[in-house]
Amino acid sequence: MFRALVLKLAGWSPIERLVTRSFLFRSLVKRFIAGEDLDTALRIGEEYVDKGFLVSMDLLGENVETTEEADRETNTYLKMAEMIAASPSKDRMNISVKLTALGLDLSDEVAEANYRKILTATKDSDIFVRADMEASEYTQRTVDIIDRLFKEFKNCGTVLQSYLLRTSEDVAHMIELGARVRIVKGAYLEPAEVAHQEKYRVDEQYVEQAKTLLRHGNYPAIATHDLRIVEQLKQFIKEENIASERFEWQMIYGVRRDLQRQLLEEGYNVRIYIPYGAAWYPYFSRRLAERPANLFFILKSLFQK
Ligand code: FDA
Repeated sequence: MFRALVLKLAGWSPIERLVTRSFLFRSLVKRFIAGEDLDTALRIGEEYVDKGFLVSMDLLGENVETTEEADRETNTYLKMAEMIAASPSKDRMNISVKLTALGLDLSDEVAEANYRKILTATKDSDIFVRADMEASEYTQRTVDIIDRLFKEFKNCGTVLQSYLLRTSEDVAHMIELGARVRIVKGAYLEPAEVAHQEKYRVDEQYVEQAKTLLRHGNYPAIATHDLRIVEQLKQFIKEENIASERFEWQMIYGVRRDLQRQLLEEGYNVRIYIPYGAAWYPYFSRRLAERPANLFFILKSLFQK
């Protein structure tokens, strides 16, 4: 309920203006977004690597409407790839992209051609570039693009969302293909025709799909901050004797830093997803919607001097 309400309100332009202009949101924005420029974000990424984490760099921006914008986004990703290749932290960094930032709303061909450019530029330096998963209208198209590109580029992979009714089939499909999957609960507002609406069902699906990927997947990324699920999966990993090099945990920059550190100290691979860029509003509203306490934090600051 809370999540649906926040996501609906966030789509309303007066709210967007309020959030992007008001000082009230500044400190929370700073917590979730690693700056607006690549240099700052990369420096933050390198600091995480120095502490022992792996990192995925993400340029914020989605749903571009013109080929010029898609080209601009692609070029920024190419620049990012160049900078990562030159970084001493290169072997511990990868990239996350949104296909709608590369032109998926224009056509599959535009987005695929731009993704191909990035994969070509990163293939020799062996930098992995994952396509994030967006709203359900893009799921099949994203899966199809990965299907086509994976034959040529082993450095591509994607994300599957446990809230979608279709996801167990997609998990099986990606395992057969051999492509790397990040499993997440799902962050968009989806109707009952395509997605489970009850949290317990999503959590159940998540655990099942994560277990399947841990058993049979190609270096899966278990992306969650849900302590209960993390504990359950740790137990499973122990029982099944799954080596810690065969998978990684992933968490978002600014979320559950205690759990990030704890897993690292326990000897697991832990990757931090580091978003940066000026177009942070849609990403930020999804983070607000995930946790009522984030909004209470802002309301509280309204009443403090
Ligand atoms: P859940 O939402 O149940 O949260 C469990 C606990 O984690 C909360 O009780 C709280 O303590 C903490 N927490 C979670 N979110 C928080 C927040 N925003 N602020 C503060 N605390 C928070 N989604 C998608 O649709 N497509 C994608 O490509 C991706 N990519 C992605 C990458 C990575 C690395 C992660 C970790 C997540 C994504 N997601 C995503 C987001 C994902 O779908 C989901 O919305 C969030 O991870 C929140 O779900 P949890 O599994 O953390 O559980």
